Amino acid sequence: MTSYADKGIKPAVNYEAFHHLLFWVGNAKQAAAYYITHFGFRYIGYQGLETGNRDVASHVVGNGDLRFVFQSSLRPGNKEMTEFMGQHGDGVRNVAFTVDDARECFRLAVMKGATPIREPWAEADEHGEVVMSTIRVYGDVDHTFVQTNGYSGVFLPGFIAIDGFNALNDVLPPVPVAFIDHCVSNQPDNKMVEITERYEQMLGFHRFWSVDDKDIHTEFSSLRSIVMAAWNENVMMPINEPADGLRKSQIEEYIEFNGGPGIQHIAIRTHDIITAVGNMKKRGAEFLYTPKTYYDDLRQRLKKSKVTVTEDLDMLEKLHILVDFDDQGYLLQIFTKPIEDRPTVFLEFIQRHNHQGFGAGNFGQLFRAIEREQELRGNL
Ligand SMILES: [Fe+2]
Repeated sequence: MTSYADKGIKPAVNYEAFHHLLFWVGNAKQAAAYYITHFGFRYIGYQGLETGNRDVASHVVGNGDLRFVFQSSLRPGNKEMTEFMGQHGDGVRNVAFTVDDARECFRLAVMKGATPIREPWAEADEHGEVVMSTIRVYGDVDHTFVQTNGYSGVFLPGFIAIDGFNALNDVLPPVPVAFIDHCVSNQPDNKMVEITERYEQMLGFHRFWSVDDKDIHTEFSSLRSIVMAAWNENVMMPINEPADGLRKSQIEEYIEFNGGPGIQHIAIRTHDIITAVGNMKKRGAEFLYTPKTYYDDLRQRLKKSKVTVTEDLDMLEKLHILVDFDDQGYLLQIFTKPIEDRPTVFLEFIQRHNHQGFGAGNFGQLFRAIEREQELRGNL
Protein backbone atom coordinates (compact mmCIF):
# COMPACT_ATOMS: atom_id res chain seq x y z
CA MET A 1 0.00 0.00 0.00
CA THR A 2 1.47 3.35 -1.03
CA SER A 3 0.42 6.98 -0.54
CA TYR A 4 1.89 9.63 -2.81
CA ALA A 5 2.78 13.17 -1.73
CA ASP A 6 3.87 14.50 -5.14
CA LYS A 7 0.94 16.16 -6.91
CA GLY A 8 2.99 17.01 -10.01
CA ILE A 9 2.69 20.33 -11.80
CA LYS A 10 -0.43 22.34 -10.96
CA PRO A 11 -2.68 22.19 -14.03
CA ALA A 12 -4.01 25.34 -15.67
CA VAL A 13 -7.58 24.22 -14.98
CA ASN A 14 -9.33 23.32 -11.76
CA TYR A 15 -11.51 20.24 -11.20
CA GLU A 16 -13.76 21.26 -8.32
CA ALA A 17 -15.95 18.19 -7.73
CA PHE A 18 -17.98 15.43 -9.34
CA HIS A 19 -20.91 17.24 -10.99
CA HIS A 20 -23.06 14.20 -11.79
CA LEU A 21 -23.02 10.62 -13.03
CA LEU A 22 -25.08 9.80 -16.10
CA PHE A 23 -26.56 6.29 -16.38
CA TRP A 24 -28.07 4.91 -19.58
CA VAL A 25 -30.86 2.54 -18.60
CA GLY A 26 -33.81 0.71 -20.11
CA ASN A 27 -36.40 2.62 -18.10
CA ALA A 28 -35.12 5.85 -16.55
CA LYS A 29 -38.35 6.62 -14.73
CA GLN A 30 -38.27 3.32 -12.85
CA ALA A 31 -34.51 3.52 -12.20
CA ALA A 32 -35.00 6.94 -10.56
CA ALA A 33 -37.75 5.48 -8.39
CA TYR A 34 -35.44 2.64 -7.26
CA TYR A 35 -32.81 5.05 -5.91
CA ILE A 36 -35.47 7.17 -4.22
CA THR A 37 -37.10 4.12 -2.63
CA HIS A 38 -34.08 2.17 -1.40
CA PHE A 39 -31.33 4.78 -1.03
CA GLY A 40 -33.38 7.79 0.09
CA PHE A 41 -32.50 10.07 -2.83
CA ARG A 42 -34.83 12.96 -3.71
CA TYR A 43 -36.27 13.67 -7.11
CA ILE A 44 -34.49 16.78 -8.48
CA GLY A 45 -35.26 17.43 -12.15
CA TYR A 46 -36.83 16.17 -15.34
CA GLN A 47 -36.51 16.51 -19.11
CA GLY A 48 -38.72 14.72 -21.60
CA LEU A 49 -41.60 15.12 -24.01
CA GLU A 50 -43.29 17.70 -21.76
CA THR A 51 -40.20 19.92 -21.85
CA GLY A 52 -39.75 19.61 -25.62
CA ASN A 53 -37.14 16.83 -25.54
CA ARG A 54 -38.46 14.48 -28.20
CA ASP A 55 -35.71 11.82 -28.20
CA VAL A 56 -34.46 11.14 -24.67
CA ALA A 57 -36.05 11.33 -21.20
CA SER A 58 -33.85 12.33 -18.25
CA HIS A 59 -34.64 11.94 -14.56
CA VAL A 60 -32.26 13.51 -12.01
CA VAL A 61 -32.14 12.27 -8.43
CA GLY A 62 -29.82 13.41 -5.67
CA ASN A 63 -28.96 13.56 -2.03
CA GLY A 64 -26.65 16.17 -0.49
CA ASP A 65 -24.44 17.40 -3.36
CA LEU A 66 -24.67 14.07 -5.22
CA ARG A 67 -26.57 13.89 -8.52
CA PHE A 68 -27.37 10.81 -10.62
CA VAL A 69 -29.03 11.28 -14.01
CA PHE A 70 -30.95 8.40 -15.60
CA GLN A 71 -31.65 8.55 -19.33
CA SER A 72 -33.70 6.38 -21.65
CA SER A 73 -34.55 6.65 -25.33
CA LEU A 74 -38.11 7.78 -26.08
CA ARG A 75 -38.18 6.40 -29.62
CA PRO A 76 -37.39 3.25 -31.54
CA GLY A 77 -34.05 2.96 -33.30
CA ASN A 78 -31.73 4.90 -30.98
CA LYS A 79 -28.68 2.98 -32.13
CA GLU A 80 -26.17 4.51 -29.71
CA MET A 81 -28.21 3.82 -26.57
CA THR A 82 -29.36 0.40 -27.76
CA GLU A 83 -25.82 -0.70 -28.53
CA PHE A 84 -24.50 0.60 -25.20
CA MET A 85 -27.17 -1.22 -23.21
CA GLY A 86 -26.89 -4.37 -25.32
CA GLN A 87 -23.20 -4.48 -24.53
CA HIS A 88 -23.04 -3.24 -20.94
CA GLY A 89 -26.58 -3.46 -19.59
CA ASP A 90 -27.74 -0.45 -17.57
CA GLY A 91 -24.59 1.40 -16.62
CA VAL A 92 -22.63 4.60 -16.16
CA ARG A 93 -22.23 6.41 -19.47
CA ASN A 94 -20.62 9.63 -18.24
CA VAL A 95 -18.76 10.87 -15.18
CA ALA A 96 -19.14 14.67 -15.22
CA PHE A 97 -16.87 17.07 -13.34
CA THR A 98 -17.51 20.62 -12.16
CA VAL A 99 -14.61 22.67 -13.56
CA ASP A 100 -13.64 26.33 -13.71
CA ASP A 101 -13.13 26.39 -17.51
CA ALA A 102 -14.86 23.76 -19.68
CA ARG A 103 -13.32 25.09 -22.92
CA GLU A 104 -9.77 24.92 -21.58
CA CYS A 105 -10.30 21.45 -20.01
CA PHE A 106 -11.45 20.21 -23.42
CA ARG A 107 -8.57 21.88 -25.30
CA LEU A 108 -5.92 20.50 -22.93
CA ALA A 109 -7.36 16.96 -22.81
CA VAL A 110 -7.75 16.69 -26.58
CA MET A 111 -4.27 18.13 -27.13
CA LYS A 112 -2.94 15.26 -24.97
CA GLY A 113 -4.83 12.61 -26.90
CA ALA A 114 -8.31 12.38 -25.36
CA THR A 115 -11.03 11.57 -27.89
CA PRO A 116 -13.19 14.66 -28.52
CA ILE A 117 -16.83 13.66 -28.16
CA ARG A 118 -18.51 17.08 -28.15
CA GLU A 119 -16.86 20.47 -28.67
CA PRO A 120 -17.58 23.11 -25.99
CA TRP A 121 -21.15 24.36 -26.08
CA ALA A 122 -23.27 26.70 -23.95
CA GLU A 123 -26.79 26.18 -22.62
CA ALA A 124 -28.85 28.86 -20.93
CA ASP A 125 -32.23 29.53 -19.38
CA GLU A 126 -33.58 32.15 -16.98
CA HIS A 127 -31.35 30.76 -14.20
CA GLY A 128 -28.03 31.32 -15.97
CA GLU A 129 -25.63 29.94 -18.55
CA VAL A 130 -23.56 26.77 -18.32
CA VAL A 131 -20.64 25.81 -20.59
CA MET A 132 -19.94 22.12 -21.19
CA SER A 133 -17.67 19.89 -23.30
CA THR A 134 -17.21 16.12 -23.50
CA ILE A 135 -14.18 13.88 -24.02
CA ARG A 136 -13.35 10.18 -23.73
CA VAL A 137 -10.38 8.62 -21.95
CA TYR A 138 -11.22 4.91 -22.40
CA GLY A 139 -14.02 2.51 -23.33
CA ASP A 140 -17.62 3.75 -23.40
CA VAL A 141 -17.38 6.03 -20.36
CA ASP A 142 -17.15 9.72 -21.25
CA HIS A 143 -16.31 12.75 -19.14
CA THR A 144 -18.27 15.98 -19.44
CA PHE A 145 -16.71 19.16 -18.10
CA VAL A 146 -19.39 21.39 -16.57
CA GLN A 147 -18.60 25.06 -15.98
CA THR A 148 -21.63 26.16 -13.99
CA ASN A 149 -20.92 29.93 -13.71
CA GLY A 150 -23.10 30.01 -10.59
CA TYR A 151 -26.11 28.52 -12.43
CA SER A 152 -29.08 28.60 -10.03
CA GLY A 153 -31.69 26.30 -11.64
CA VAL A 154 -32.68 22.84 -10.37
CA PHE A 155 -29.89 21.01 -12.24
CA LEU A 156 -28.81 22.21 -15.69
CA PRO A 157 -30.61 24.46 -18.20
CA GLY A 158 -33.77 22.86 -19.57
CA PHE A 159 -34.52 20.70 -16.52
CA ILE A 160 -37.70 21.37 -14.58
CA ALA A 161 -38.56 20.53 -10.99
CA ILE A 162 -41.39 18.03 -10.58
CA ASP A 163 -42.41 16.23 -7.44
CA GLY A 164 -41.56 12.83 -8.87
CA PHE A 165 -41.72 10.20 -6.22
CA ASN A 166 -40.81 12.48 -3.33
CA ALA A 167 -43.98 11.68 -1.39
CA LEU A 168 -42.20 8.45 -0.44
CA ASN A 169 -39.55 10.45 1.42
CA ASP A 170 -42.22 11.98 3.65
CA VAL A 171 -43.01 8.55 5.12
CA LEU A 172 -39.71 6.61 4.89
CA PRO A 173 -36.71 7.33 7.20
CA PRO A 174 -34.10 9.80 5.82
CA VAL A 175 -30.66 8.77 4.52
CA PRO A 176 -28.08 11.45 5.35
CA VAL A 177 -25.33 11.54 2.67
CA ALA A 178 -23.08 14.36 1.52
CA PHE A 179 -21.34 13.86 -1.86
CA ILE A 180 -19.47 11.42 -4.11
CA ASP A 181 -16.23 10.39 -2.36
CA HIS A 182 -14.74 8.39 -5.24
CA CYS A 183 -15.77 6.68 -8.43
CA VAL A 184 -13.99 3.45 -9.44
CA SER A 185 -13.40 1.91 -12.84
CA ASN A 186 -12.43 -1.66 -13.66
CA GLN A 187 -9.98 -2.28 -16.50
CA PRO A 188 -8.97 -5.54 -18.19
CA ASP A 189 -5.69 -7.31 -17.41
CA ASN A 190 -2.58 -5.13 -17.67
CA LYS A 191 -4.49 -2.01 -18.66
CA MET A 192 -4.47 -0.20 -15.30
CA VAL A 193 -1.14 1.63 -15.62
CA GLU A 194 -1.87 2.73 -19.19
CA ILE A 195 -5.23 4.18 -18.14
CA THR A 196 -3.76 5.99 -15.11
CA GLU A 197 -1.17 7.55 -17.42
CA ARG A 198 -3.98 8.82 -19.65
CA TYR A 199 -5.67 10.49 -16.65
CA GLU A 200 -2.33 12.02 -15.74
CA GLN A 201 -1.65 13.39 -19.21
CA MET A 202 -5.13 14.27 -20.42
CA LEU A 203 -6.70 15.57 -17.20
CA GLY A 204 -3.63 16.49 -15.14
CA PHE A 205 -4.54 14.01 -12.38
CA HIS A 206 -1.86 12.55 -10.10
CA ARG A 207 -1.36 9.29 -8.23
CA PHE A 208 -2.85 9.52 -4.74
CA TRP A 209 -2.78 5.97 -3.36
CA SER A 210 -2.23 2.44 -4.62
CA VAL A 211 -2.39 -1.19 -3.60
CA ASP A 212 -1.08 -4.25 -5.39
CA ASP A 213 -1.85 -7.93 -5.29
CA LYS A 214 0.61 -8.49 -2.43
CA ASP A 215 -1.59 -6.25 -0.25
CA ILE A 216 -4.95 -7.49 -1.43
CA HIS A 217 -5.74 -11.09 -2.00
CA THR A 218 -7.68 -14.02 -0.69
CA GLU A 219 -6.89 -17.66 -1.28
CA PHE A 220 -8.79 -17.32 -4.57
CA SER A 221 -8.35 -13.91 -6.13
CA SER A 222 -6.61 -10.54 -5.97
CA LEU A 223 -6.51 -7.08 -7.52
CA ARG A 224 -4.33 -4.07 -8.17
CA SER A 225 -5.63 -0.52 -7.82
CA ILE A 226 -4.24 2.97 -8.35
CA VAL A 227 -6.22 5.98 -7.15
CA MET A 228 -5.91 8.97 -9.47
CA ALA A 229 -6.87 12.38 -8.06
CA ALA A 230 -7.42 15.85 -9.41
CA TRP A 231 -5.11 18.56 -8.05
CA ASN A 232 -7.41 19.59 -5.16
CA GLU A 233 -8.11 15.90 -4.37
CA ASN A 234 -11.87 16.45 -4.28
CA VAL A 235 -12.16 14.20 -7.33
CA MET A 236 -10.84 10.66 -6.77
CA MET A 237 -10.89 7.98 -9.46
CA PRO A 238 -9.48 4.58 -8.38
CA ILE A 239 -8.61 2.36 -11.34
CA ASN A 240 -8.56 -1.43 -10.83
CA GLU A 241 -7.28 -4.39 -12.77
CA PRO A 242 -7.42 -8.09 -11.92
CA ALA A 243 -4.33 -9.94 -10.75
CA ASP A 244 -3.72 -13.66 -11.16
CA GLY A 245 -5.60 -15.78 -8.67
CA LEU A 246 -6.70 -19.38 -8.33
CA ARG A 247 -10.22 -18.53 -9.43
CA LYS A 248 -12.03 -15.78 -11.28
CA SER A 249 -11.72 -12.45 -9.46
CA GLN A 250 -14.59 -10.00 -9.05
CA ILE A 251 -12.79 -7.71 -11.52
CA GLU A 252 -12.74 -10.43 -14.19
CA GLU A 253 -16.40 -11.16 -13.45
CA TYR A 254 -17.17 -7.47 -13.95
CA ILE A 255 -15.22 -7.25 -17.24
CA GLU A 256 -16.99 -10.35 -18.54
CA PHE A 257 -20.51 -9.21 -17.65
CA ASN A 258 -19.93 -5.54 -18.56
CA GLY A 259 -18.38 -6.53 -21.87
CA GLY A 260 -15.27 -4.43 -21.19
CA PRO A 261 -14.07 -1.68 -18.86
CA GLY A 262 -16.45 0.62 -17.03
CA ILE A 263 -17.55 2.11 -13.72
CA GLN A 264 -17.62 -0.54 -10.99
CA HIS A 265 -18.65 1.36 -7.89
CA ILE A 266 -19.56 4.79 -6.70
CA ALA A 267 -18.59 5.62 -3.12
CA ILE A 268 -20.91 8.03 -1.37
CA ARG A 269 -19.62 10.01 1.63
CA THR A 270 -21.82 10.26 4.69
CA HIS A 271 -21.21 11.94 8.02
CA ASP A 272 -23.52 9.48 9.81
CA ILE A 273 -23.14 6.00 8.37
CA ILE A 274 -25.07 4.30 11.17
CA THR A 275 -28.24 6.32 10.52
CA ALA A 276 -27.74 6.16 6.73
CA VAL A 277 -27.25 2.38 6.57
CA GLY A 278 -29.84 1.61 9.24
CA ASN A 279 -32.44 3.60 7.32
CA MET A 280 -31.45 2.21 3.90
CA LYS A 281 -31.93 -1.28 5.32
CA LYS A 282 -35.40 -0.26 6.52
CA ARG A 283 -36.01 0.91 2.94
CA GLY A 284 -35.06 -2.53 1.63
CA ALA A 285 -31.55 -1.79 0.27
CA GLU A 286 -29.33 -4.90 -0.03
CA PHE A 287 -25.80 -4.87 1.40
CA LEU A 288 -22.97 -7.40 1.54
CA TYR A 289 -22.83 -9.54 4.65
CA THR A 290 -19.89 -9.52 7.08
CA PRO A 291 -19.50 -12.47 9.47
CA LYS A 292 -19.20 -12.25 13.26
CA THR A 293 -15.55 -13.39 13.12
CA TYR A 294 -14.63 -10.10 11.43
CA TYR A 295 -15.91 -8.15 14.45
CA ASP A 296 -14.26 -10.48 16.98
CA ASP A 297 -10.97 -9.93 15.17
CA LEU A 298 -11.61 -6.17 14.83
CA ARG A 299 -12.18 -5.77 18.59
CA GLN A 300 -8.83 -7.48 19.25
CA ARG A 301 -6.97 -5.36 16.70
CA LEU A 302 -8.53 -2.11 17.99
CA LYS A 303 -7.40 -2.93 21.55
CA LYS A 304 -3.78 -2.73 20.34
CA SER A 305 -4.39 0.40 18.29
CA LYS A 306 -3.88 4.08 19.16
CA VAL A 307 -7.14 4.99 17.51
CA THR A 308 -10.54 5.06 19.23
CA VAL A 309 -13.62 4.32 17.20
CA THR A 310 -16.33 6.54 18.67
CA GLU A 311 -19.25 4.67 17.07
CA ASP A 312 -20.84 1.77 18.93
CA LEU A 313 -19.09 -1.42 17.69
CA ASP A 314 -22.17 -3.52 18.45
CA MET A 315 -24.19 -1.28 16.15
CA LEU A 316 -21.51 -1.46 13.41
CA GLU A 317 -21.58 -5.24 13.72
CA LYS A 318 -25.37 -5.36 13.61
CA LEU A 319 -25.37 -3.31 10.39
CA HIS A 320 -22.31 -5.15 8.90
CA ILE A 321 -20.34 -1.90 8.56
CA LEU A 322 -16.57 -2.42 8.06
CA VAL A 323 -13.81 -0.50 9.86
CA ASP A 324 -10.31 0.26 8.53
CA PHE A 325 -7.80 2.22 10.59
CA ASP A 326 -4.22 3.32 11.13
CA ASP A 327 -2.57 5.25 13.95
CA GLN A 328 -4.09 8.57 12.86
CA GLY A 329 -7.68 7.74 12.13
CA TYR A 330 -10.24 5.37 10.71
CA LEU A 331 -12.93 4.94 8.11
CA LEU A 332 -16.26 3.14 8.14
CA GLN A 333 -17.61 1.60 4.94
CA ILE A 334 -20.16 -0.80 3.54
CA PHE A 335 -20.90 -2.11 0.05
CA THR A 336 -24.24 -2.82 -1.56
CA LYS A 337 -24.97 -5.89 -3.61
CA PRO A 338 -24.97 -5.17 -7.39
CA ILE A 339 -27.71 -2.64 -8.14
CA GLU A 340 -28.85 -4.44 -11.27
CA ASP A 341 -29.13 -8.01 -12.56
CA ARG A 342 -25.67 -8.07 -14.13
CA PRO A 343 -22.98 -8.32 -11.41
CA THR A 344 -21.44 -5.00 -12.46
CA VAL A 345 -22.23 -1.70 -10.70
CA PHE A 346 -22.58 -1.34 -6.92
CA LEU A 347 -22.50 1.45 -4.35
CA GLU A 348 -20.28 2.04 -1.33
CA PHE A 349 -21.14 4.23 1.65
CA ILE A 350 -18.15 5.66 3.49
CA GLN A 351 -17.56 7.82 6.57
CA ARG A 352 -14.05 9.16 7.21
CA HIS A 353 -12.44 10.11 10.52
CA ASN A 354 -9.05 11.57 9.61
CA HIS A 355 -8.35 8.67 7.27
CA GLN A 356 -7.81 9.15 3.53
CA GLY A 357 -7.46 5.47 2.55
CA PHE A 358 -9.88 3.28 0.63
CA GLY A 359 -10.33 0.41 3.04
CA ALA A 360 -7.34 -1.76 2.03
CA GLY A 361 -7.57 -3.49 5.43
CA ASN A 362 -11.08 -4.59 4.46
CA PHE A 363 -10.40 -5.66 0.90
CA GLY A 364 -9.76 -9.26 1.94
CA GLN A 365 -13.06 -9.31 3.83
CA LEU A 366 -14.82 -7.59 0.95
CA PHE A 367 -13.38 -10.09 -1.51
CA ARG A 368 -14.55 -13.05 0.56
CA ALA A 369 -18.03 -11.50 0.81
CA ILE A 370 -18.10 -10.97 -2.96
CA GLU A 371 -16.74 -14.49 -3.57
CA ARG A 372 -19.67 -15.93 -1.59
CA GLU A 373 -21.98 -14.02 -3.96
CA GLN A 374 -19.94 -15.03 -7.04
CA GLU A 375 -20.26 -18.64 -6.01
CA LEU A 376 -24.06 -18.28 -5.85
CA ARG A 377 -23.95 -16.75 -9.32
CA GLY A 378 -21.79 -19.63 -10.66
CA ASN A 379 -19.00 -17.17 -11.47
CA LEU A 380 -16.19 -18.16 -9.10
FE1 LIG B 1 -14.34 2.28 -2.85
